Amino acid sequence: MASNTKINLTVIAFLITNVAAATGYTNHTVGGDVGWFFDSNTNTSATNYSSWAANQTFNLGDYLIFRTSTNQTVIQTYNATTYQSCTMDDASDTDTFQYNGGSTGFDQSLTIAVPLTVEGTNYYFSDAEDGIQCQRGMAFEIDVSHGNGLPPSLNQPPPPPHVEPPGGDSAQSPPITIAGGSPSLNNGAVAGSGAESRAMLGLFFGVTWSLMF
Ligand SMILES: *[C@@H]1O[C@H](CO)[C@@H](O)[C@H](O)[C@H]1NC(C)=O
Ligand SMILES: *[C@@H]1O[C@H](CO)[C@@H](O)[C@H](O)[C@H]1NC(C)=O
Ligand SMILES: *[C@@H]1O[C@H](CO)[C@@H](O)[C@H](O)[C@H]1NC(C)=O
Ligand SMILES: *[C@@H]1O[C@H](CO)[C@@H](O)[C@H](O)[C@H]1NC(C)=O
Ligand SMILES: *[C@@H]1O[C@H](CO)[C@@H](O)[C@H](O)[C@H]1NC(C)=O
Ligand SMILES: *[C@@H]1O[C@H](CO)[C@@H](O)[C@H](O)[C@H]1NC(C)=O
Repeated sequence: MASNTKINLTVIAFLITNVAAATGYTNHTVGGDVGWFFDSNTNTSATNYSSWAANQTFNLGDYLIFRTSTNQTVIQTYNATTYQSCTMDDASDTDTFQYNGGSTGFDQSLTIAVPLTVEGTNYYFSDAEDGIQCQRGMAFEIDVSHGNGLPPSLNQPPPPPHVEPPGGDSAQSPPITIAGGSPSLNNGAVAGSGAESRAMLGLFFGVTWSLMF
């Protein structure tokens, strides 16, 4: 009895550990309690964001949570040149994204959640005040590891396979017979496909002909 109980507890502990691992994604609040802010009077960022980032481990499926205001922007790029330039003016929209809270006025507080969906180096900066914020500390880079991989919620499913709609001509077409029988291996692929396309052409004209009358 006692050993059964022990085994059951071991199994339960094992299950709990695995559930925790399966859902083990982390939300990283950028800058910790300080948030993502720039002080225009002192011309400095609220904290050293590079040091903040250096103390974290980032994995696919984690989020960066920017607690900020509309005085700053949140730009994500995978392009080191764009990052170093502190502007997204010349950036490609395939590697650089601006996250917007939807507000337009200055000084409105907002929280922006940025999912980490690409492994490797990700760069972040604020391009506000013509890049001065970025030049003065509103910039950091992180290295995103694979971890548990993307959760289904962030993993875009591939488009569904194309399915021919039922009915229409295909339902009524006669079975395709290739003139001269099936292409033999000796004739090679080119000759075989030639016979096939001539057969398809014949079928096409046949269908067109029957549609006309
Ligand atoms: C992390 O942030 C995302 C996006 O805001 C949210 O959907 C999720 O519930 C958060 N997870 C935790 C554990 O707070
Ligand atoms: C802030 O620093 C930038 C250079 O990084 C400088 O051009 C600008 O004049 C400074 N602004 C103030 C208010 O000191
Ligand atoms: C921020 O911290 C990094 C080390 O994490 C250091 O190299 C850098 O000089 C610091 N930046 C400022 C503006 O102090
Ligand atoms: C990073 O972690 C080290 C020790 O692990 C600590 O001394 C340091 O203060 C931390 N830095 C930040 C910005 O949290
Ligand atoms: C990175 O962005 C710059 C413009 O900021 C562009 O000229 C360059 O081609 C980009 N690099 C890659 C690898 O896409
Ligand atoms: C945000 O910008 C506005 C306009 O430039 C300024 O009046 C306000 O003090 C700024 N707020 C902060 C928190 O820097």
